[in-house]
Amino acid sequence: MIPTNNHKRPFARIAGTGRAVPPTVLTNADLEAIVETSDEWITQRAGIKRRHIVQRGDKTSDLCIEAARTALDDARVKPEEIEFIVLGTISPDMRFPATAVFIQEALKCENAVAYDVSATCSGFLFSLYQGEAMIALGRAKKGLVIGAELLTTIADWTDRGTCVLFGDGAGAVVLEEANDEHGILSTYIGSGGGASSLLYCVGHGTVGHMSTMDTEPGESLLHMNGNEVFRQAVRTMEKSAHAALDRAGMTADEIDWLIPHQANIRIIEATMQRLRLPAEKVIINIQEYGNTSSASIPIALDEALRDGRIRSGQTVLCVAFGGGFTWGGAVIRF
Ligand code: ACO
Repeated sequence: MIPTNNHKRPFARIAGTGRAVPPTVLTNADLEAIVETSDEWITQRAGIKRRHIVQRGDKTSDLCIEAARTALDDARVKPEEIEFIVLGTISPDMRFPATAVFIQEALKCENAVAYDVSATCSGFLFSLYQGEAMIALGRAKKGLVIGAELLTTIADWTDRGTCVLFGDGAGAVVLEEANDEHGILSTYIGSGGGASSLLYCVGHGTVGHMSTMDTEPGESLLHMNGNEVFRQAVRTMEKSAHAALDRAGMTADEIDWLIPHQANIRIIEATMQRLRLPAEKVIINIQEYGNTSSASIPIALDEALRDGRIRSGQTVLCVAFGGGFTWGGAVIRF
Protein backbone atom coordinates (compact mmCIF):
# COMPACT_ATOMS: atom_id res chain seq x y z
CA MET A 1 0.00 0.00 0.00
CA ILE A 2 1.40 3.41 -0.98
CA PRO A 3 0.02 6.26 1.12
CA THR A 4 -0.39 9.63 -0.60
CA ASN A 5 2.56 11.25 1.09
CA ASN A 6 4.97 8.37 0.34
CA HIS A 7 6.32 8.47 3.90
CA LYS A 8 8.48 11.48 3.10
CA ARG A 9 6.22 13.86 4.97
CA PRO A 10 4.53 13.59 8.34
CA PHE A 11 1.09 12.06 8.52
CA ALA A 12 -1.76 14.08 9.96
CA ARG A 13 -3.65 11.98 12.46
CA ILE A 14 -6.98 12.61 14.11
CA ALA A 15 -6.08 13.05 17.77
CA GLY A 16 -9.54 13.92 19.10
CA THR A 17 -13.14 14.43 18.00
CA GLY A 18 -16.26 16.20 19.24
CA ARG A 19 -19.79 16.95 18.14
CA ALA A 20 -22.64 19.25 19.11
CA VAL A 21 -26.29 19.36 18.13
CA PRO A 22 -29.03 21.62 19.47
CA PRO A 23 -31.31 20.05 22.10
CA THR A 24 -34.58 20.71 20.24
CA VAL A 25 -35.74 17.70 18.21
CA LEU A 26 -38.18 18.00 15.32
CA THR A 27 -39.83 14.69 14.46
CA ASN A 28 -41.54 13.68 11.23
CA ALA A 29 -44.84 13.92 13.13
CA ASP A 30 -43.99 17.54 14.01
CA LEU A 31 -43.37 18.23 10.31
CA GLU A 32 -46.81 16.87 9.41
CA ALA A 33 -48.18 19.97 11.14
CA ILE A 34 -45.97 22.31 9.07
CA VAL A 35 -46.19 20.95 5.48
CA GLU A 36 -48.26 18.30 3.70
CA THR A 37 -46.07 15.29 4.37
CA SER A 38 -46.01 12.06 6.36
CA ASP A 39 -43.66 10.06 8.53
CA GLU A 40 -44.02 7.24 6.00
CA TRP A 41 -42.91 9.40 3.01
CA ILE A 42 -39.93 10.94 4.80
CA THR A 43 -38.78 7.57 6.21
CA GLN A 44 -39.12 5.72 2.91
CA ARG A 45 -37.82 8.43 0.56
CA ALA A 46 -35.05 9.89 2.75
CA GLY A 47 -34.52 7.59 5.77
CA ILE A 48 -34.97 10.41 8.28
CA LYS A 49 -37.03 10.06 11.49
CA ARG A 50 -36.01 13.19 13.39
CA ARG A 51 -33.53 16.06 13.28
CA HIS A 52 -32.08 18.55 15.78
CA ILE A 53 -32.91 22.18 15.07
CA VAL A 54 -31.70 25.49 16.46
CA GLN A 55 -33.87 28.15 18.03
CA ARG A 56 -33.83 31.83 17.07
CA GLY A 57 -30.63 33.41 18.39
CA ASP A 58 -28.52 30.23 18.18
CA LYS A 59 -25.45 30.61 15.99
CA THR A 60 -23.28 28.24 13.96
CA SER A 61 -20.27 29.27 16.07
CA ASP A 62 -22.06 28.17 19.27
CA LEU A 63 -22.19 24.56 18.06
CA CYS A 64 -18.65 24.78 16.62
CA ILE A 65 -17.23 25.99 19.94
CA GLU A 66 -18.91 23.15 21.86
CA ALA A 67 -17.75 20.50 19.37
CA ALA A 68 -14.22 21.92 19.20
CA ARG A 69 -13.87 22.11 23.01
CA THR A 70 -14.80 18.43 23.24
CA ALA A 71 -12.32 17.57 20.49
CA LEU A 72 -9.52 19.52 22.23
CA ASP A 73 -10.25 17.74 25.54
CA ASP A 74 -10.35 14.39 23.76
CA ALA A 75 -6.97 15.09 22.13
CA ARG A 76 -5.52 16.63 25.33
CA VAL A 77 -4.39 19.59 23.25
CA LYS A 78 -4.31 23.14 24.63
CA PRO A 79 -5.92 25.99 22.63
CA GLU A 80 -2.59 27.79 22.31
CA GLU A 81 -1.09 24.74 20.52
CA ILE A 82 -3.64 25.07 17.70
CA GLU A 83 -2.12 26.61 14.56
CA PHE A 84 -5.13 26.54 12.24
CA ILE A 85 -8.92 26.45 12.46
CA VAL A 86 -10.53 25.54 9.15
CA LEU A 87 -14.33 25.56 9.21
CA GLY A 88 -16.45 24.11 6.41
CA THR A 89 -19.82 25.86 6.41
CA ILE A 90 -22.37 27.49 4.12
CA SER A 91 -24.35 28.83 7.07
CA PRO A 92 -21.89 31.26 8.71
CA ASP A 93 -22.78 33.52 11.63
CA MET A 94 -22.30 36.59 9.44
CA ARG A 95 -21.35 37.40 5.88
CA PHE A 96 -18.06 38.48 7.40
CA PRO A 97 -15.92 38.05 9.40
CA ALA A 98 -15.44 34.33 8.96
CA THR A 99 -17.19 32.23 11.60
CA ALA A 100 -13.86 30.53 12.30
CA VAL A 101 -12.54 33.71 13.92
CA PHE A 102 -15.40 33.68 16.45
CA ILE A 103 -14.34 30.13 17.32
CA GLN A 104 -10.73 31.29 17.61
CA GLU A 105 -11.75 34.09 19.95
CA ALA A 106 -13.95 31.91 22.17
CA LEU A 107 -11.41 29.12 22.48
CA LYS A 108 -8.46 31.52 22.85
CA CYS A 109 -6.53 29.86 20.02
CA GLU A 110 -4.32 32.92 19.74
CA ASN A 111 -1.65 31.17 17.64
CA ALA A 112 -4.02 29.93 14.95
CA VAL A 113 -5.02 31.19 11.53
CA ALA A 114 -8.81 30.82 11.25
CA TYR A 115 -10.94 30.84 8.11
CA ASP A 116 -14.07 29.36 6.53
CA VAL A 117 -14.38 27.12 3.49
CA SER A 118 -17.57 27.17 1.40
CA ALA A 119 -18.09 23.75 -0.18
CA THR A 120 -21.66 22.80 0.80
CA CYS A 121 -21.98 19.20 2.03
CA SER A 122 -18.35 18.48 1.12
CA GLY A 123 -17.19 21.32 3.41
CA PHE A 124 -15.67 19.07 6.07
CA LEU A 125 -13.65 17.04 3.55
CA PHE A 126 -12.47 20.21 1.77
CA SER A 127 -11.36 21.56 5.17
CA LEU A 128 -9.70 18.26 6.10
CA TYR A 129 -7.82 18.37 2.79
CA GLN A 130 -6.39 21.77 3.73
CA GLY A 131 -5.58 20.81 7.31
CA GLU A 132 -3.88 17.62 6.21
CA ALA A 133 -1.83 19.54 3.64
CA MET A 134 -0.65 22.10 6.21
CA ILE A 135 0.62 19.31 8.46
CA ALA A 136 2.07 17.16 5.66
CA LEU A 137 3.95 20.19 4.30
CA GLY A 138 5.37 20.95 7.73
CA ARG A 139 3.57 24.29 8.02
CA ALA A 140 1.74 23.33 11.23
CA LYS A 141 1.80 20.59 13.85
CA LYS A 142 -1.72 20.83 15.28
CA GLY A 143 -5.01 22.28 14.10
CA LEU A 144 -8.78 22.11 14.23
CA VAL A 145 -10.98 21.06 11.32
CA ILE A 146 -14.70 21.62 11.77
CA GLY A 147 -17.85 21.01 9.72
CA ALA A 148 -20.93 22.87 10.90
CA GLU A 149 -24.26 23.85 9.47
CA LEU A 150 -27.54 25.43 10.51
CA LEU A 151 -29.36 24.72 7.26
CA THR A 152 -32.75 24.89 8.99
CA THR A 153 -32.14 28.66 9.14
CA ILE A 154 -32.17 28.87 5.32
CA ALA A 155 -34.72 26.11 4.66
CA ASP A 156 -37.95 27.06 2.93
CA TRP A 157 -40.52 25.85 5.47
CA THR A 158 -43.26 25.96 2.81
CA ASP A 159 -41.39 23.55 0.47
CA ARG A 160 -41.99 19.96 1.56
CA GLY A 161 -39.43 18.72 -0.98
CA THR A 162 -36.57 20.28 0.96
CA CYS A 163 -37.52 21.38 4.49
CA VAL A 164 -38.03 17.82 5.74
CA LEU A 165 -34.44 16.89 4.88
CA PHE A 166 -32.22 19.15 6.94
CA GLY A 167 -30.96 19.25 10.52
CA ASP A 168 -28.43 21.36 12.41
CA GLY A 169 -25.12 20.32 13.98
CA ALA A 170 -21.35 20.57 14.17
CA GLY A 171 -18.48 18.11 14.29
CA ALA A 172 -14.82 18.84 14.99
CA VAL A 173 -11.52 17.00 14.82
CA VAL A 174 -8.08 17.89 16.13
CA LEU A 175 -5.37 17.06 13.61
CA GLU A 176 -1.80 16.58 14.75
CA GLU A 177 1.48 15.55 13.20
CA ALA A 178 2.25 11.84 13.43
CA ASN A 179 5.27 10.05 12.13
CA ASP A 180 3.85 6.56 11.84
CA GLU A 181 1.25 5.32 9.37
CA HIS A 182 -1.73 6.25 11.53
CA GLY A 183 -3.69 9.12 10.20
CA ILE A 184 -4.94 10.48 6.92
CA LEU A 185 -3.69 8.19 4.16
CA SER A 186 -5.31 10.16 1.35
CA THR A 187 -7.61 13.04 0.60
CA TYR A 188 -9.38 13.94 -2.59
CA ILE A 189 -11.63 16.89 -3.47
CA GLY A 190 -13.32 18.07 -6.63
CA SER A 191 -15.88 20.47 -8.00
CA GLY A 192 -17.84 21.03 -11.18
CA GLY A 193 -19.54 24.24 -12.15
CA GLY A 194 -22.75 24.49 -14.10
CA ALA A 195 -25.03 23.03 -11.44
CA SER A 196 -25.97 26.20 -9.61
CA SER A 197 -29.56 26.07 -10.85
CA LEU A 198 -30.03 22.64 -9.23
CA LEU A 199 -29.01 23.53 -5.68
CA TYR A 200 -28.43 27.07 -4.45
CA CYS A 201 -29.24 29.80 -1.97
CA VAL A 202 -28.88 33.44 -3.07
CA GLY A 203 -29.08 34.57 0.54
CA HIS A 204 -27.01 37.67 1.15
CA GLY A 205 -24.91 37.16 -1.97
CA THR A 206 -24.41 39.97 -4.47
CA VAL A 207 -26.80 38.27 -6.92
CA GLY A 208 -29.54 39.17 -4.47
CA HIS A 209 -28.57 42.86 -4.11
CA MET A 210 -30.05 42.90 -0.64
CA SER A 211 -29.42 46.63 -0.26
CA THR A 212 -31.87 47.44 -3.07
CA MET A 213 -34.75 46.05 -0.96
CA ASP A 214 -36.35 44.45 -4.03
CA THR A 215 -35.18 40.88 -3.55
CA GLU A 216 -37.92 38.27 -3.55
CA PRO A 217 -38.21 36.92 0.02
CA GLY A 218 -37.91 33.30 -1.18
CA GLU A 219 -34.57 34.00 -2.84
CA SER A 220 -32.84 34.06 0.53
CA LEU A 221 -33.79 30.40 1.04
CA LEU A 222 -32.40 27.08 -0.16
CA HIS A 223 -33.62 25.75 -3.53
CA MET A 224 -33.01 22.22 -4.78
CA ASN A 225 -33.99 20.03 -7.72
CA GLY A 226 -33.93 16.84 -5.66
CA ASN A 227 -34.25 14.30 -8.49
CA GLU A 228 -31.31 15.58 -10.51
CA VAL A 229 -29.15 16.14 -7.43
CA PHE A 230 -29.93 12.57 -6.36
CA ARG A 231 -28.73 11.10 -9.66
CA GLN A 232 -25.51 13.11 -9.62
CA ALA A 233 -24.89 12.30 -5.95
CA VAL A 234 -24.94 8.54 -6.46
CA ARG A 235 -22.54 8.65 -9.41
CA THR A 236 -20.17 11.12 -7.79
CA MET A 237 -20.02 9.50 -4.36
CA GLU A 238 -18.77 6.31 -6.00
CA LYS A 239 -16.24 8.21 -8.13
CA SER A 240 -14.94 10.10 -5.08
CA ALA A 241 -14.62 6.90 -3.06
CA HIS A 242 -12.50 5.27 -5.77
CA ALA A 243 -10.34 8.38 -6.18
CA ALA A 244 -9.57 8.50 -2.43
CA LEU A 245 -8.94 4.74 -2.32
CA ASP A 246 -6.62 4.88 -5.36
CA ARG A 247 -4.60 7.65 -3.75
CA ALA A 248 -4.23 5.51 -0.63
CA GLY A 249 -3.28 2.48 -2.72
CA MET A 250 -6.29 0.57 -1.38
CA THR A 251 -9.44 -1.09 -2.64
CA ALA A 252 -12.91 -0.88 -1.12
CA ASP A 253 -12.76 -4.40 0.33
CA GLU A 254 -9.73 -3.39 2.43
CA ILE A 255 -11.53 -0.71 4.40
CA ASP A 256 -13.23 -1.39 7.72
CA TRP A 257 -15.82 1.41 7.64
CA LEU A 258 -17.50 3.74 5.18
CA ILE A 259 -18.75 7.08 6.48
CA PRO A 260 -20.82 8.61 3.70
CA HIS A 261 -22.31 12.09 3.81
CA GLN A 262 -25.79 11.58 5.24
CA ALA A 263 -28.07 13.21 2.63
CA ASN A 264 -30.53 10.42 1.89
CA ILE A 265 -30.59 6.75 2.93
CA ARG A 266 -31.16 5.75 -0.71
CA ILE A 267 -28.00 7.59 -1.83
CA ILE A 268 -26.08 5.85 0.98
CA GLU A 269 -27.46 2.42 0.01
CA ALA A 270 -26.68 2.97 -3.67
CA THR A 271 -23.11 3.98 -2.76
CA MET A 272 -22.71 0.88 -0.58
CA GLN A 273 -23.92 -1.33 -3.42
CA ARG A 274 -21.66 0.27 -6.01
CA LEU A 275 -18.66 -0.17 -3.68
CA ARG A 276 -19.85 -3.71 -2.78
CA LEU A 277 -19.77 -2.93 0.93
CA PRO A 278 -22.09 -4.72 3.37
CA ALA A 279 -24.35 -2.66 5.67
CA GLU A 280 -22.29 -3.81 8.70
CA LYS A 281 -19.39 -1.68 7.41
CA VAL A 282 -21.35 1.55 6.95
CA ILE A 283 -21.94 4.21 9.60
CA ILE A 284 -25.48 5.56 9.21
CA ASN A 285 -27.15 8.08 11.52
CA ILE A 286 -29.35 10.02 9.10
CA GLN A 287 -32.45 8.75 10.95
CA GLU A 288 -31.41 10.81 14.01
CA TYR A 289 -30.01 13.99 12.46
CA GLY A 290 -31.28 14.40 8.89
CA ASN A 291 -28.89 16.04 6.44
CA THR A 292 -26.53 18.23 8.49
CA SER A 293 -24.48 19.02 5.36
CA SER A 294 -20.80 19.59 6.19
CA ALA A 295 -21.37 18.42 9.77
CA SER A 296 -22.64 14.95 8.88
CA ILE A 297 -19.29 13.17 8.44
CA PRO A 298 -17.56 14.54 11.59
CA ILE A 299 -20.70 13.89 13.68
CA ALA A 300 -20.85 10.27 12.46
CA LEU A 301 -17.10 9.87 12.98
CA ASP A 302 -17.30 11.14 16.56
CA GLU A 303 -20.23 8.85 17.37
CA ALA A 304 -18.55 5.77 15.93
CA LEU A 305 -15.25 6.45 17.71
CA ARG A 306 -16.93 7.08 21.05
CA ASP A 307 -19.21 4.02 20.94
CA GLY A 308 -16.25 1.80 19.99
CA ARG A 309 -17.33 0.81 16.49
CA ILE A 310 -14.16 2.30 14.98
CA ARG A 311 -11.14 0.76 16.72
CA SER A 312 -7.43 1.46 16.65
CA GLY A 313 -5.79 0.05 13.53
CA GLN A 314 -8.98 0.23 11.47
CA THR A 315 -9.32 2.16 8.22
CA VAL A 316 -12.22 4.47 7.43
CA LEU A 317 -13.32 5.81 4.04
CA CYS A 318 -15.25 9.10 4.11
CA VAL A 319 -17.08 10.35 1.05
CA ALA A 320 -19.24 13.41 0.38
CA PHE A 321 -21.19 15.24 -2.30
CA GLY A 322 -22.93 18.60 -2.27
CA GLY A 323 -24.17 21.67 -4.08
CA GLY A 324 -21.87 23.31 -6.60
CA PHE A 325 -21.40 20.50 -7.29
CA THR A 326 -18.59 19.60 -4.89
CA TRP A 327 -17.32 16.21 -3.84
CA GLY A 328 -14.57 14.60 -1.84
CA GLY A 329 -13.15 11.53 -0.17
CA ALA A 330 -10.63 10.65 2.51
CA VAL A 331 -9.04 7.44 3.77
CA ILE A 332 -8.06 7.57 7.45
CA ARG A 333 -6.34 4.91 9.57
CA PHE A 334 -6.98 5.07 13.33
N1 ACO B 1 -43.83 14.56 1.67
C1 ACO B 1 -44.70 13.99 0.83
N2 ACO B 1 -44.57 14.03 -0.49
C2 ACO B 1 -43.51 14.68 -0.99
C3 ACO B 1 -42.56 15.31 -0.17
C4 ACO B 1 -42.75 15.23 1.22
N3 ACO B 1 -41.89 15.80 2.09
N4 ACO B 1 -41.63 15.88 -0.95
C5 ACO B 1 -41.96 15.62 -2.22
N5 ACO B 1 -43.10 14.90 -2.23
C6 ACO B 1 -43.82 14.40 -3.40
C7 ACO B 1 -43.55 15.20 -4.66
O1 ACO B 1 -44.41 16.31 -4.73
C8 ACO B 1 -43.84 14.18 -5.72
O2 ACO B 1 -45.23 14.09 -5.89
P1 ACO B 1 -45.88 13.85 -7.36
O3 ACO B 1 -45.35 12.50 -7.80
O4 ACO B 1 -47.33 13.87 -7.10
O5 ACO B 1 -45.37 14.97 -8.21
C9 ACO B 1 -43.37 12.87 -5.10
O6 ACO B 1 -43.34 13.09 -3.66
C10 ACO B 1 -42.01 12.42 -5.55
O7 ACO B 1 -41.13 13.55 -5.43
P2 ACO B 1 -39.62 13.44 -5.83
O8 ACO B 1 -38.98 14.78 -5.70
O9 ACO B 1 -39.53 12.73 -7.15
O10 ACO B 1 -39.08 12.47 -4.69
P3 ACO B 1 -37.68 11.77 -4.60
O11 ACO B 1 -37.89 10.33 -4.50
O12 ACO B 1 -36.72 12.27 -5.65
O13 ACO B 1 -37.12 12.28 -3.20
C11 ACO B 1 -35.56 13.86 -2.27
C12 ACO B 1 -36.90 13.66 -3.00
C13 ACO B 1 -35.67 13.19 -0.92
C14 ACO B 1 -35.31 15.33 -2.13
C15 ACO B 1 -34.43 13.20 -3.11
O14 ACO B 1 -34.54 13.60 -4.45
C16 ACO B 1 -33.04 13.55 -2.60
O15 ACO B 1 -32.64 13.13 -1.54
N6 ACO B 1 -32.24 14.26 -3.42
C17 ACO B 1 -30.83 14.51 -3.13
C18 ACO B 1 -30.60 15.47 -1.98
C19 ACO B 1 -29.12 15.74 -1.81
O16 ACO B 1 -28.31 14.83 -1.82
N7 ACO B 1 -28.72 16.99 -1.72
C20 ACO B 1 -27.30 17.32 -1.72
C21 ACO B 1 -26.83 17.78 -0.44
S1 ACO B 1 -27.69 19.22 0.15
C22 ACO B 1 -26.57 20.53 0.00
O17 ACO B 1 -25.57 20.45 -0.64
C23 ACO B 1 -26.92 21.80 0.69
